[in-house]
Amino acid sequence: MVVPQRQGEANPTQMGVEEKVRKTLAELGVNDSPGVESLFAELRKAAKEERAQLIARGAANQPQRERLCKALRDRWLARKGGFLSQVDEKWLKPAGKDLKPVVGRQFNELRRFVTDLEFEKLLEALPLQQEASPQTELVLNAVGTARPAPRDITLPGLRRPLGSLHPVIRMQREIEEIFLRLGFWIESGPEIESTYYNFDALNIPESHPSRDDWDTFYIDSKTVLRTHTSPVQIRAMEKYGAPLYIIIPGKCYRHDNPDSTHSPMFHQIEGLAIDQDITFADLKGTLDFFAKMLFGEKVRTRFQPSFFPFTEPSGEVAVSCFVCGGQGCRVCKESGWIELMGCGMVHPQVLRNGGIDPDKHCGWAFGLGVDRFAMVKHDINDIQLFFQGDVRFLEQFR
Ligand code: DAH
Repeated sequence: MVVPQRQGEANPTQMGVEEKVRKTLAELGVNDSPGVESLFAELRKAAKEERAQLIARGAANQPQRERLCKALRDRWLARKGGFLSQVDEKWLKPAGKDLKPVVGRQFNELRRFVTDLEFEKLLEALPLQQEASPQTELVLNAVGTARPAPRDITLPGLRRPLGSLHPVIRMQREIEEIFLRLGFWIESGPEIESTYYNFDALNIPESHPSRDDWDTFYIDSKTVLRTHTSPVQIRAMEKYGAPLYIIIPGKCYRHDNPDSTHSPMFHQIEGLAIDQDITFADLKGTLDFFAKMLFGEKVRTRFQPSFFPFTEPSGEVAVSCFVCGGQGCRVCKESGWIELMGCGMVHPQVLRNGGIDPDKHCGWAFGLGVDRFAMVKHDINDIQLFFQGDVRFLEQFR
């Protein structure tokens, strides 16, 4: 709705910050919470912009820099006449009963916001220029007698906060390192995959429950979001033939409801070794070495029989708990063992599907969940924490 302006009445939307803080809320025609909130949002925006403008324009020399920084600080924070103290006087104190709580809250937030802008620290960061632009002074209403001074290139630059590697990617890199040292290389494949590579070529029959659309995200009847990294086994065999020593890290997708142990997107690393005369002993030796490199010399590994359509025989590998040494604790859920991965000797039909003759070559493979590894390593009990992007959580892994 357009409210016609009476003659002589100030239009609040065109008023500058200086003018607004000199009027009461009633005079500004603000009488509800959304109005108060947007007024304060305007102030926060102005504070941030003024700081950015000052940095962009710089100062001509050290005295001017000090004066500009102090002027900006005083403009907002001076006890007498600073914007915050005017807001206190004009908006907070006279506010009526129903608006007072929201004005109070917003006022506190503004104070925190302006304090966080750390105007004082600009003293170090404000770039010195050959010549100060006249606007620098105008912005702050402080007229100076700037003389051109040489730019001081020894001053520290503005620091941008540095990010860090995500804990899951860190875990992935750690695992990659171990296998790279053993002579494996890293291969990758598409996350949008055909049902042929994701299932058929891996010997997973049409009737297998994992093909159900309860478990798999179908894009169309022949295309899925890959449910594991195993399809890249076939792609790599087709591309390179034998011998082959690769690991395949990457994202996988399953139709799981997110909870503390499930996520519809998660990370796996696949391992594949193909050569002549490879035996189950090679598989055991390699994975035992891997576990010791990752969890410490003292851990032992345990291989139990299992079933996967693409390996024969198949196994599950567990490692003795690296926290309690196998006595039983919270991390190993009192069992003394931590499940690591599935593995096995590559099924002859899978070799054939990858164009490799099972009479000449054989091999082993494994698949592990990187997120789970990172959870075990850092004693994290909720996989969701990895994917919520909460900086307070992520910062702990710098
Ligand atoms: N692809 C299996 C899964 O997602 C994991 C796996 C098990 C991979 C055994 C392998 C293997 O290569 O040999 O559950």
